[in-house]
Amino acid sequence: MTSRLAKSIDRLQSRLRVEWYRRRYPKAVLGPHLGIRGKLIITGPGKVVVGEHCFFDAATGQPNKIQTFDPAATVTIGDFCYLNGIEIAAQTSVTLGSRCIVADCLIMDTDFHSIEINRHDASAPVKTKPVEIAENVWIGNRTIILKGVRVGENSVVGAGTVVRQSVPPNAVVIGNPQQIAKMLAPSAGERTETASR
Ligand SMILES: CC(C)(COP(=O)(O)OP(=O)(O)OC[C@H]1O[C@@H](n2cnc3c(N)ncnc32)[C@H](O)[C@@H]1OP(=O)(O)O)[C@@H](O)C(=O)NCCC(=O)NCCS
Repeated sequence: MTSRLAKSIDRLQSRLRVEWYRRRYPKAVLGPHLGIRGKLIITGPGKVVVGEHCFFDAATGQPNKIQTFDPAATVTIGDFCYLNGIEIAAQTSVTLGSRCIVADCLIMDTDFHSIEINRHDASAPVKTKPVEIAENVWIGNRTIILKGVRVGENSVVGAGTVVRQSVPPNAVVIGNPQQIAKMLAPSAGERTETASR
Protein backbone atom coordinates (compact mmCIF):
# COMPACT_ATOMS: atom_id res chain seq x y z
CA MET A 1 0.00 0.00 0.00
CA THR A 2 1.39 3.41 -0.92
CA SER A 3 1.85 5.88 1.89
CA ARG A 4 -0.58 8.24 0.10
CA LEU A 5 -3.26 5.57 0.15
CA ALA A 6 -2.51 4.77 3.80
CA LYS A 7 -2.83 8.47 4.65
CA SER A 8 -6.15 8.73 2.79
CA ILE A 9 -7.50 5.70 4.68
CA ASP A 10 -6.28 7.19 7.96
CA ARG A 11 -8.03 10.49 7.20
CA LEU A 12 -11.25 8.72 6.24
CA GLN A 13 -11.19 6.61 9.42
CA SER A 14 -10.58 9.76 11.46
CA ARG A 15 -13.55 11.54 9.85
CA LEU A 16 -15.80 8.55 10.46
CA ARG A 17 -14.65 8.39 14.08
CA VAL A 18 -15.40 12.10 14.60
CA GLU A 19 -18.82 11.70 12.99
CA TRP A 20 -19.53 8.73 15.25
CA TYR A 21 -18.60 10.78 18.36
CA ARG A 22 -20.72 13.74 17.22
CA ARG A 23 -23.72 11.39 17.10
CA ARG A 24 -22.79 9.72 20.36
CA TYR A 25 -22.59 13.04 22.23
CA PRO A 26 -25.24 15.23 20.55
CA LYS A 27 -25.40 17.65 23.51
CA ALA A 28 -21.68 18.46 23.36
CA VAL A 29 -20.59 21.24 21.03
CA LEU A 30 -17.65 19.74 19.15
CA GLY A 31 -16.17 22.40 16.89
CA PRO A 32 -15.21 22.03 13.23
CA HIS A 33 -11.99 20.34 12.04
CA LEU A 34 -11.89 18.08 15.08
CA GLY A 35 -9.52 15.09 15.19
CA ILE A 36 -9.95 12.08 17.45
CA ARG A 37 -7.67 9.10 17.91
CA GLY A 38 -8.58 6.52 20.55
CA LYS A 39 -11.40 6.92 23.05
CA LEU A 40 -13.26 10.13 23.95
CA ILE A 41 -15.60 9.86 26.95
CA ILE A 42 -18.05 12.66 27.79
CA THR A 43 -20.42 12.12 30.70
CA GLY A 44 -22.74 14.17 32.91
CA PRO A 45 -25.49 16.77 32.64
CA GLY A 46 -23.32 19.89 32.11
CA LYS A 47 -22.29 21.80 29.01
CA VAL A 48 -19.20 20.80 27.04
CA VAL A 49 -17.88 23.08 24.28
CA VAL A 50 -14.79 22.22 22.25
CA GLY A 51 -13.40 24.83 19.86
CA GLU A 52 -12.20 24.36 16.31
CA HIS A 53 -9.15 22.42 15.10
CA CYS A 54 -8.75 20.50 18.36
CA PHE A 55 -7.20 17.05 18.45
CA PHE A 56 -7.94 14.35 21.03
CA ASP A 57 -5.05 11.90 20.85
CA ALA A 58 -4.37 8.53 22.45
CA ALA A 59 -0.58 8.47 22.50
CA THR A 60 -0.43 8.27 26.32
CA GLY A 61 -2.70 5.21 26.29
CA GLN A 62 -5.28 7.08 28.41
CA PRO A 63 -8.70 7.97 27.04
CA ASN A 64 -9.67 11.63 26.94
CA LYS A 65 -12.41 11.99 29.55
CA ILE A 66 -14.63 14.99 30.26
CA GLN A 67 -17.08 14.67 33.14
CA THR A 68 -19.61 17.18 34.44
CA PHE A 69 -21.41 16.69 37.74
CA ASP A 70 -24.03 19.43 37.67
CA PRO A 71 -26.45 20.70 35.00
CA ALA A 72 -24.87 24.17 35.44
CA ALA A 73 -21.29 22.88 35.09
CA THR A 74 -19.36 23.97 32.01
CA VAL A 75 -16.23 22.68 30.31
CA THR A 76 -14.86 24.92 27.59
CA ILE A 77 -11.86 24.04 25.45
CA GLY A 78 -10.44 26.68 23.13
CA ASP A 79 -9.32 26.35 19.51
CA PHE A 80 -6.23 24.43 18.35
CA CYS A 81 -5.83 22.45 21.57
CA TYR A 82 -4.00 19.10 21.62
CA LEU A 83 -5.37 16.81 24.31
CA ASN A 84 -3.58 13.55 24.96
CA GLY A 85 -5.32 11.67 27.76
CA ILE A 86 -6.84 14.61 29.66
CA GLU A 87 -9.32 13.97 32.46
CA ILE A 88 -11.57 16.85 33.48
CA ALA A 89 -14.03 16.71 36.38
CA ALA A 90 -16.25 19.80 36.54
CA GLN A 91 -18.81 20.71 39.15
CA THR A 92 -18.72 24.44 38.32
CA SER A 93 -16.40 25.32 35.43
CA VAL A 94 -13.17 24.27 33.79
CA THR A 95 -11.88 26.43 30.94
CA LEU A 96 -8.90 25.87 28.66
CA GLY A 97 -7.69 28.66 26.40
CA SER A 98 -6.66 28.11 22.82
CA ARG A 99 -3.44 26.36 21.69
CA CYS A 100 -2.95 24.36 24.88
CA ILE A 101 -1.01 21.08 24.87
CA VAL A 102 -2.29 18.78 27.58
CA ALA A 103 -1.09 15.28 28.47
CA ASP A 104 -2.69 12.66 30.75
CA CYS A 105 -3.45 15.00 33.62
CA LEU A 106 -6.38 15.39 35.99
CA ILE A 107 -8.08 18.78 36.28
CA MET A 108 -10.83 19.07 38.88
CA ASP A 109 -12.76 22.07 40.19
CA THR A 110 -14.19 20.20 43.17
CA ASP A 111 -12.93 18.12 46.09
CA PHE A 112 -15.94 15.80 45.63
CA HIS A 113 -16.18 15.19 49.41
CA SER A 114 -16.19 17.40 52.47
CA ILE A 115 -13.15 17.46 54.73
CA GLU A 116 -15.52 17.83 57.70
CA ILE A 117 -15.94 14.66 59.74
CA ASN A 118 -19.64 14.54 58.92
CA ARG A 119 -18.60 14.12 55.28
CA HIS A 120 -21.12 11.31 54.74
CA ASP A 121 -23.98 13.78 55.35
CA ALA A 122 -25.41 15.27 52.19
CA SER A 123 -25.32 18.68 53.94
CA ALA A 124 -21.53 18.59 54.58
CA PRO A 125 -19.90 21.45 52.62
CA VAL A 126 -17.79 20.45 49.62
CA LYS A 127 -15.34 23.03 48.29
CA THR A 128 -15.60 23.85 44.59
CA LYS A 129 -14.01 26.68 42.59
CA PRO A 130 -13.60 27.19 38.83
CA VAL A 131 -10.32 26.30 37.14
CA GLU A 132 -8.94 28.36 34.29
CA ILE A 133 -6.08 27.37 32.04
CA ALA A 134 -5.09 30.32 29.87
CA GLU A 135 -3.85 30.31 26.26
CA ASN A 136 -0.85 28.37 25.07
CA VAL A 137 -0.28 26.43 28.28
CA TRP A 138 1.55 23.08 28.19
CA ILE A 139 0.56 20.57 30.90
CA GLY A 140 2.88 17.55 31.27
CA ASN A 141 2.19 13.92 32.10
CA ARG A 142 0.47 12.86 35.34
CA THR A 143 -0.12 16.34 36.71
CA ILE A 144 -3.04 17.22 38.97
CA ILE A 145 -4.65 20.66 38.87
CA LEU A 146 -6.88 21.42 41.82
CA LYS A 147 -9.90 23.68 42.37
CA GLY A 148 -9.56 27.44 42.06
CA VAL A 149 -6.31 27.37 40.11
CA ARG A 150 -5.56 29.69 37.21
CA VAL A 151 -2.58 28.82 35.04
CA GLY A 152 -1.38 31.93 33.23
CA GLU A 153 -0.76 32.12 29.49
CA ASN A 154 2.29 30.42 27.98
CA SER A 155 3.13 28.60 31.21
CA VAL A 156 4.38 25.02 31.46
CA VAL A 157 3.36 22.56 34.17
CA GLY A 158 6.07 19.89 34.52
CA ALA A 159 5.34 16.18 34.70
CA GLY A 160 3.91 15.02 38.01
CA THR A 161 3.23 18.49 39.41
CA VAL A 162 0.38 18.98 41.87
CA VAL A 163 -0.89 22.50 41.19
CA ARG A 164 -2.69 23.95 44.22
CA GLN A 165 -2.08 27.63 43.66
CA SER A 166 -2.41 29.82 40.60
CA VAL A 167 0.54 29.99 38.25
CA PRO A 168 1.62 33.32 36.73
CA PRO A 169 1.98 33.73 32.96
CA ASN A 170 5.23 32.55 31.29
CA ALA A 171 6.30 30.32 34.20
CA VAL A 172 7.58 26.73 34.34
CA VAL A 173 6.23 25.07 37.49
CA ILE A 174 7.25 21.71 38.86
CA GLY A 175 6.98 19.51 41.89
CA ASN A 176 4.81 18.97 44.91
CA PRO A 177 4.43 21.41 46.53
CA GLN A 178 4.58 23.29 43.27
CA GLN A 179 7.42 25.72 42.71
CA ILE A 180 8.50 27.95 39.86
CA ALA A 181 11.51 26.34 38.17
CA LYS A 182 12.05 29.21 35.73
CA MET A 183 10.40 32.08 33.90
CA LEU A 184 10.14 32.15 30.11
CA ALA A 185 10.86 35.11 27.88
CA PRO A 186 7.39 36.21 26.73
CA SER A 187 8.59 36.99 23.22
CA ALA A 188 10.32 33.63 22.71
CA GLY A 189 7.23 31.70 21.56
CA GLU A 190 6.22 31.95 17.93
CA ARG A 191 2.50 31.81 17.41
CA THR A 192 1.46 28.66 15.54
CA GLU A 193 -2.12 27.72 14.95
CA THR A 194 -1.88 23.97 14.44
CA ALA A 195 -2.77 21.50 17.19
CA SER A 196 0.29 19.19 17.50
CA ARG A 197 -0.25 15.61 16.29
C1 LIG B 1 8.77 21.01 32.84
C2 LIG B 1 9.87 20.61 31.86
C3 LIG B 1 9.36 20.71 30.43
C4 LIG B 1 11.01 21.61 32.13
O1 LIG B 1 12.07 21.28 31.31
P1 LIG B 1 13.43 22.15 31.36
O2 LIG B 1 13.11 23.56 31.03
O3 LIG B 1 14.45 21.46 30.54
O4 LIG B 1 13.77 22.12 32.90
P2 LIG B 1 15.15 21.78 33.60
O5 LIG B 1 15.56 20.39 33.26
O6 LIG B 1 16.10 22.91 33.35
O7 LIG B 1 14.71 21.78 35.11
C5 LIG B 1 14.71 22.90 35.95
C6 LIG B 1 14.70 22.37 37.37
O8 LIG B 1 13.42 21.75 37.65
C7 LIG B 1 13.58 20.35 37.94
N1 LIG B 1 12.50 19.66 37.23
C8 LIG B 1 12.24 19.71 35.91
N2 LIG B 1 11.13 19.04 35.62
C9 LIG B 1 10.67 18.54 36.79
C10 LIG B 1 9.54 17.76 37.13
N3 LIG B 1 8.64 17.37 36.21
N4 LIG B 1 9.37 17.45 38.43
C11 LIG B 1 10.24 17.85 39.38
N5 LIG B 1 11.33 18.60 39.10
C12 LIG B 1 11.55 18.94 37.83
C13 LIG B 1 14.94 19.99 37.40
O9 LIG B 1 15.48 18.92 38.09
C14 LIG B 1 15.72 21.29 37.64
O10 LIG B 1 16.03 21.37 38.99
P3 LIG B 1 17.46 22.00 39.45
O11 LIG B 1 17.46 23.41 38.91
O12 LIG B 1 17.39 21.92 40.93
O13 LIG B 1 18.48 21.12 38.83
C15 LIG B 1 10.32 19.15 32.04
O14 LIG B 1 11.19 18.98 33.10
C16 LIG B 1 9.19 18.13 32.14
O15 LIG B 1 8.44 18.00 33.11
N6 LIG B 1 9.14 17.38 31.05
C17 LIG B 1 8.12 16.40 30.84
C18 LIG B 1 6.94 17.04 30.08
C19 LIG B 1 5.92 16.01 29.74
O16 LIG B 1 5.20 15.56 30.61
N7 LIG B 1 5.88 15.65 28.43
C20 LIG B 1 5.02 14.63 27.90
C21 LIG B 1 3.61 15.03 27.73
S1 LIG B 1 3.27 16.40 26.69
